[in-house]
Amino acid sequence: MVGKHNGQFQPLQRYAHITGWGKALPDRVVTNDELAQIVDTSDEWIRTRTGIHQRYVAIDANETTATLGARAARAALEKADLPIGKLDLIICATSSPEHLFPSTASLIQDALGATRAGAFDLSAACSGFVYGLALARGMIASGQADNVLVVGAETLSRIVDWSDRNTCVLFGDGAGAVLLQASATPGGVLSTVLGSDGSGGDLLAVPAGGSKQPATLETVAAGQHFIKMDGRAVFRFATRVMADATREVLGKAGLEVGDVDLVIPHQANERIIRLSMKQLGLPEEKVFINLQYYGNTSTASIPIALCDAIEQERLQPNDNMVMVGFGAGLTWAASAIKWVGPVSREAPLWRAGQRTATYGLAQMRSRLLRLSRKMEGTLMTEEGDALSEALSKRIERWRRSSKE
Ligand code: COA
Repeated sequence: MVGKHNGQFQPLQRYAHITGWGKALPDRVVTNDELAQIVDTSDEWIRTRTGIHQRYVAIDANETTATLGARAARAALEKADLPIGKLDLIICATSSPEHLFPSTASLIQDALGATRAGAFDLSAACSGFVYGLALARGMIASGQADNVLVVGAETLSRIVDWSDRNTCVLFGDGAGAVLLQASATPGGVLSTVLGSDGSGGDLLAVPAGGSKQPATLETVAAGQHFIKMDGRAVFRFATRVMADATREVLGKAGLEVGDVDLVIPHQANERIIRLSMKQLGLPEEKVFINLQYYGNTSTASIPIALCDAIEQERLQPNDNMVMVGFGAGLTWAASAIKWVGPVSREAPLWRAGQRTATYGLAQMRSRLLRLSRKMEGTLMTEEGDALSEALSKRIERWRRSSKE
């Protein structure tokens, strides 16, 4: 990207704009009253201490972090009407990845058939989505990518101890995604603040299942694969960092609290949000809260809230928005964004059909690739076999051509 300035060609500044957004939720809603049937709690306690009324839970074993993430990603790509082949990078922020590896982002890439995109997971707990925005902006601003998908996806219900009332009432499943695109129009992600204090790592953790404490009969019996949390300490930390991070990110963008039109905070606890925003002197109508419907969906909470805020017309073109989150690590992150509004591209009617066909082809392609690898493995056992060599060359050629 170059432009002419004072008679000389200069590189144009590249801005990262959110041009697509989408969310996905499992079908099953679990109310506070239902939780009160399995742990010693009440609808009244949960509402007054957290603001949460219900949450979505992925009961169906086929609904996973990647399937939710892929659904949200498809919605974001559709909104921006971006052909899948133009996607450069998929960043999936998640606290409940499908595996230690492969990354959930790679599974989403495969489901989308995004053959030209790189993909990786980002682990910064509930701050992960805003960390992802910061990375995407950096990739776009430095010219390394034009189209980056940032996904926040969770099935926290799979790592929550359903007999622990301190945690099971708080979390929910879901996914949100945004597409960031390079543009010469000023705006988009203006500034970011990323923070970490690892000394508080033990305050919110899944202790076992990693390399420090691999799974054993003892770790399973002791419930060490579930979320453990010191709620009060996390509460204190959150109310300390949210306001500071918001002020700092605004300062970096050359803005003041009075310039803010909407804050989309991490949806963990209504009291944390209200206390933090009060510290900033922000009126209630400038703060978006939707945790009553979803609970804390960790990395997905901010992009889901963004989708709802747009749907409710809480964002107008040229609005200054702040996204701010905190989470395990301990981590925190904030981003100041100049909202340009929807980039209105009237997608032709046939595009929906084309998309469905593309995703169907992506599934077929994935199956064929798996099959071809199996065949290759079987045939190559006969070393020097001319037939197997010829076949694997054909397979390789097909693999390459299907990428083009
Ligand atoms: N139902 C009923 N009672 C509960 C309960 C539940 N689900 N969970 C805890 N309690 C009880 C406690 O056992 C305690 O009882 P006690 O006084 O007899 O010991 C009492 O309620 C108050 O507990 P406390 O921890 O002081 O409540 P709180 O007002 O701090 O609220 C949290 C608890 C967890 C809601 C709150 O601390 C919080 O939201 N912390 C931040 C957690 C968070 O956001 N984590 C995710 C970060 S991304």
